[in-house]
Amino acid sequence: MAKTNHLEDKISIIGAGMVGSTIAYALMISGLAKQLVLVDINRGKAAGEAMDLSHSASFVKPVHIKAGSYPDCAGSRIVIITAGANQKPGETRLDLVEKNARIIKNIVENVRPHCDNPIWLIVTNPVDVLTYLVLKVSNSPPSQVIGSGTVLDSSRFRHLLSQYCEVDARNVHAHVIGEHGDSEVLVWSTANIAGIPVEKFFKMVEIDSPAEIKDKIDRQVRRAAYEIIERKGATYYAIGLAVRRIVESILRDEHSVLTVSNLVGGIYDVNDICLSLPCVIGKNGIIKTLRPPLTEEEIQQFRSSALSLQKVAGRVL
Ligand code: 2OP
Repeated sequence: MAKTNHLEDKISIIGAGMVGSTIAYALMISGLAKQLVLVDINRGKAAGEAMDLSHSASFVKPVHIKAGSYPDCAGSRIVIITAGANQKPGETRLDLVEKNARIIKNIVENVRPHCDNPIWLIVTNPVDVLTYLVLKVSNSPPSQVIGSGTVLDSSRFRHLLSQYCEVDARNVHAHVIGEHGDSEVLVWSTANIAGIPVEKFFKMVEIDSPAEIKDKIDRQVRRAAYEIIERKGATYYAIGLAVRRIVESILRDEHSVLTVSNLVGGIYDVNDICLSLPCVIGKNGIIKTLRPPLTEEEIQQFRSSALSLQKVAGRVL
């Protein structure tokens, strides 16, 4: 259980690069947080971002935004970690593991003395392995160590289905599970539009080569970050909103179902690794991990995604 000395709406963001600053921007606009602290190894950058964001004061609900150092994280209900190296064109997320594991371990050790029992929200890649690392080094309960996981990939999946089917993405229900990365699993068997299974919906809207469309969507979701990084160097807007959405479910105790990364114990025989499944999220973090009814093929894909993460986690733990 979260202790009571949290300042209810205080959030610290470690790493004020493009992802950290965009998350701060999204949180500021949402009016969810009352206090935002930006911590970055480059103090000048964090200070500049905090100033720029603060100058929105007359356009948003009151929010106190400051740049600081680790002691300034005291009382944070949520600590969001975005610091670390990001992918260069052609690099996979897993290629970043050694470099970023060192950075993340150091951050947790520096935040912990100042921050009592926070919810950790890890965004840095490879997010699943680093979520597992934070779980191990923070001594926090698994329910309070959450990775942004495949929340973004699920949104990419919903967006593409919405485009092909010409339906509002908010009426598309589709999940990506497993690694946030190359081995992720698009769960086609449960994907639906307003309760209508996608296969049926494809027929209704006269899509005549559903297998081809499915392949195309799968590739586009899996390759999305590579495509964007190739063109503009980094991704940050959609992940900014994905993180805002997770924070919203925590701060407002919404019990929303989101595909975040969290410790999995015994679902489809996957144990002792963090990866994404649909989870119910409330004020103390993960309330419940849902076991989606997968096909045999999806179960095998999910297991092999877990296995590849376990191999990489073994290198840094
Ligand atoms: C993304 O999927 C790079 O993980 C980041 O956009």
